Amino acid sequence: MSGRPFLQIPGPTLVPERVTRAMSQSIIDHRGPKFAALVHECLAGLKGVFQSEKGQIVVYPGSGTGAWEACLVNTLSPGDRVLACVNGHFSTGFARTAAAYGIEVDRLDFPYGAGVSAEQVEQRLSEDTAHQLRAVLVVHNETSTGVTSNVAAIRAALDRARHPALLLVDVVSSLASIDFRVDEWGVDVALTGPQKGLMLPPGLAILAVSDKALHAGEKARCPRAYWDWAPVLERNKRGEFPYTPATSLLFGLRESLAMLNEEGLPNVFKRHARLGEACRRAVGALGLRLLCQKPAEYSNTLTAVLMPAGFDSDAYIAHAWKVLELSLGVGLSEVKGKVFRIGHLGGLNELDLLGGLAGVELTLKSFGVNLRLGAGLAAAEEYLLETIPSR
Ligand SMILES: Cc1ncc(COP(=O)(O)O)c(C=O)c1O
Repeated sequence: MSGRPFLQIPGPTLVPERVTRAMSQSIIDHRGPKFAALVHECLAGLKGVFQSEKGQIVVYPGSGTGAWEACLVNTLSPGDRVLACVNGHFSTGFARTAAAYGIEVDRLDFPYGAGVSAEQVEQRLSEDTAHQLRAVLVVHNETSTGVTSNVAAIRAALDRARHPALLLVDVVSSLASIDFRVDEWGVDVALTGPQKGLMLPPGLAILAVSDKALHAGEKARCPRAYWDWAPVLERNKRGEFPYTPATSLLFGLRESLAMLNEEGLPNVFKRHARLGEACRRAVGALGLRLLCQKPAEYSNTLTAVLMPAGFDSDAYIAHAWKVLELSLGVGLSEVKGKVFRIGHLGGLNELDLLGGLAGVELTLKSFGVNLRLGAGLAAAEEYLLETIPSR
């Protein structure tokens, strides 16, 4: 296929040229001075992206799933109770990982398409007068449903309930795309991977950790060796790791952090909000519905679209690939076959989005869905035209 690939899934995202070039340099000695400088730059840059001056950053070769595990084993012990807010495929996975370590998981369930209700979190915490719950688990942006939960409100719920539980937040598909503030929102562990807002290939597990979480770590008894953050933090002080690190990804990370810094985080958030809204308008103009129920919870990094009745989304996604080599996200777990997901995050611009939306229209039409070609594109373009930022 000529032209660029249309990887319109909600991560991995396309890697910008600058990042690819940075990653293609020769590997350096991971115990040498050049490497130490690279580590210090990456850790400082990540603090900025997590909006955390107070926290510590921990980076492992791994993935978002590994980051769940690192977060849990370093803060909790088998037999501890946690409140897991579950509103989709990934929040289910976070809760299951805790259960796999013998942690007692109290689930607070919400339907696919809904966000986490801070009021319900407050109620559950208020009922726990003995403070048995050690942590609250939340996924900021549920990538399976296109729903962003209000973490600031959840923090306020913990405070109102005067509950000392740790706040552990998955920001895999929101960091560096949707505003997320570790210090201001009192988040104890925020965890992510590199392949979404950070615009890198997959291969890292990245955490921002509060002092409170570090102290919890001293008492935590979950078995851990590779994921133990204590030796990583210790060696990081000297710009080293206790194992051979993913040097190329760190080269890429330094470059992607520089790009985010040049654009400015507030502008990065605005760009995602604008592209997200343009995508939603396109979907609406095509007569399709979103899985996310409340406008205040619409995700600015992806849109999960309900497949019209009588059509299977897995078959449609296979069709979109066959016709145009357009990659769209599948429906996961409870919404398998029922939704397709359009990713609009990372190093994306207006034309990238419009190209993807044109592909969605064309392939839906050729799949047999009744729609007017160009209706979605026109709605997206009109919105983009009304909101052109001064460059
Ligand atoms: C919100 C969320 N959490 C966790 C994960 C798991 O990350 P990984 O696939 O990198 O292990 C994903 C992956 O898409 C995700 O979107």
